[in-house]
Amino acid sequence: MDGFAISVGLSGSTSRHHQIRLVRGDSHLKDSDAMQQETVRTTAQTTPEWWKTGIIYQIYPRSFQDSDGDGVGDLAGIESRLDYLADLGVDAIWISPIFPSPMADFGYDVSDYRDIDPMFGTLADFDRLVAATHRRGMKLILDFVPSHTSEQHPWFTDARSSRSSPKRDWYVWRDAKPDGSPPTNWISEFGRPAWTWDEGSGQYYLNIFLSEQPALNWRNPEVQAEMLDTLRFWYDRGVDGFRVDAITHIAPDPDKGDHPPDPNWQEHMDPSYRYLKVHSKHQPEGLDFVRMMRRVTDSYPDRVLIGETDGELKAVMTYYGEAFDAFQLPFNFTLLNAPWEMAEIVRRIETYEAALPDGGWGNWVLGNHDCRRIASRAGPAQAAVAATLLLTLKGTPTIYQGDELGMESAEIPPHAVRDPWEKQVPGRGLGRDPARTPMPWEPGPTHGFSDGDPWLPVFVPAGGDVAAQRADTTSLLNYVCALIALRRETPALTLGTYETTVAQDGVFIFTRRLDGTVFHICLNFTGETRLCPVKGEVVLSSRHGSEGGAVDTLQLEPDEAAIIKAA
Ligand code: NOJ
Ligand code: MG
Repeated sequence: MDGFAISVGLSGSTSRHHQIRLVRGDSHLKDSDAMQQETVRTTAQTTPEWWKTGIIYQIYPRSFQDSDGDGVGDLAGIESRLDYLADLGVDAIWISPIFPSPMADFGYDVSDYRDIDPMFGTLADFDRLVAATHRRGMKLILDFVPSHTSEQHPWFTDARSSRSSPKRDWYVWRDAKPDGSPPTNWISEFGRPAWTWDEGSGQYYLNIFLSEQPALNWRNPEVQAEMLDTLRFWYDRGVDGFRVDAITHIAPDPDKGDHPPDPNWQEHMDPSYRYLKVHSKHQPEGLDFVRMMRRVTDSYPDRVLIGETDGELKAVMTYYGEAFDAFQLPFNFTLLNAPWEMAEIVRRIETYEAALPDGGWGNWVLGNHDCRRIASRAGPAQAAVAATLLLTLKGTPTIYQGDELGMESAEIPPHAVRDPWEKQVPGRGLGRDPARTPMPWEPGPTHGFSDGDPWLPVFVPAGGDVAAQRADTTSLLNYVCALIALRRETPALTLGTYETTVAQDGVFIFTRRLDGTVFHICLNFTGETRLCPVKGEVVLSSRHGSEGGAVDTLQLEPDEAAIIKAA
């Protein structure tokens, strides 16, 4: 028997050809009335907001481009690479924190919310970057870190100076238990107890992350006012939106007491999950605080609020707000840690689609600075399949820097470890340095990242650095560019409806349709050839050279992704 092949529905089957069935029956290859109506509703709207049709690109600023030779990326470096991003075709950049910080958690420990860390530049550099980004027709999104400050923030220095400090209540303080132990059994996200003893004032303070990151008390109206003013400060400077950090942890309620043990937790697992975080995460007041942020956001035109909303889907959906008055985009991490198995991926996509509230706009994320790289999770051969999925599903995609090159999670030698999480809980694969290595741009000792000694080693993906991939017409980078260009010129790929069409034997086909225009996205999750039940024109394929032809039955090569415009 020659190569295992699949033929489906439209082309019939033979004994050699394994038959693929349509998941929800043939009607899904036709326009149903309901589908037509939904299409009409979508197109009758005025121009959709930019954050619905656009693509967001996450920049981890330490690792994007260094301009001054200190080995750490900076704002001038980002500015010098804006043309790369414009050529790639993304609509917005989100930059991880750039504010003054002792860098205990690399910027997620802020010591001044209204300035730029000298390591990254100055406010003048920032204003230039905003202008240069806007000149290229792109938006700029900042990272807002409201749930905790740095322990070196003047507010905290003041708060810890005495129990009667006017800033005391800006943080979360509690007495020790009679035996001197912490007020609750909570464990921080980075594995140590969530309470730190302050010798000077004789109380514990709460820290959901590092002890260098004391939790802010958002129940205090002064904290709310100050933090909301921070949003105005940056909006007034032209910032187009915020990604809001650790929002699920913004309203911890220690008076509710201990966390119950998670019965499924075992010693070898992440210590942070030993107890169920029922009193520290997703507390109802948290949503009120998001609504406050949204009201400020809505007082400026065309801005967007994106939430780092990790958790169960049901909880994630609450962050839209019942009246759509919370996040426009509560991040959807359902594929971020998914095993790269087709059935599981399809299941997660369908579950997310079904869970979205009517009127809620979805979004997709495959990578960020906290997780293993997608090219490592899926395997480098599947990187183009993953990119296709991200950029053709229904909802706003966020690309993590370097994923367009197929960067993998790097092996960081022990002496080069920088991540505080890895240092606190070593050897369990929790460290985030592997996904944070600098961008490899061009030939040279640091591949163009820095004239100095990079803060983390530079690794080049199998497909080469940016310059090499640009020159190679078959590269992932050029494929991603083409995908983005196709998406930009094809309303069906942004606004069209989603339906699963085939999910069988390693082939996943889904269909996007709008106003009678129909696209089938065909993904081969296997390393074998497959025949697929689609007719039409191949408008793009990750296999260089196979575009352009009309097909009756699509032959998908191993690991191929192809986009078919239905005949
Ligand atoms: C989530 C951020 O993405 C992560 O990098 C950081 O360590 C924590 N929030 C704490 O701010
Ligand atoms: Mg620098």
